[in-house]
Amino acid sequence: MPQFTAVLKLAELPPGSMRAVTLAGRELVLCHTREGLFALDNICTHAHARLCEGRLRATRLVCPLHGASFDIRDGRVLGPPAEVPLPTHAVRVVGESIEVALAAP
Ligand code: FES
Repeated sequence: MPQFTAVLKLAELPPGSMRAVTLAGRELVLCHTREGLFALDNICTHAHARLCEGRLRATRLVCPLHGASFDIRDGRVLGPPAEVPLPTHAVRVVGESIEVALAAP
């Protein structure tokens, strides 16, 4: 069973926004879109950039450093130079809290 942990209040993540959180020493970015809530690793798989400082366009997350883009729904690469998908994590809402269960490292 995945272990869910509360990381943020729903009110702290309005639709269209993203925020960085740290869970068990792992940096994550939480994204709230029309399609729902998604959690991914916050560090780009290309080099060391924080994706929370990039742009969120619908379900496309664009890296601020060299412009790689990822699909936040499954972490797959949508545009170069990144080649490795971004790990994604399970998200659920319980009451007013957003909870995340980390995928295996
Ligand atoms: S660090 Fe993200 S595209 Fe290079």
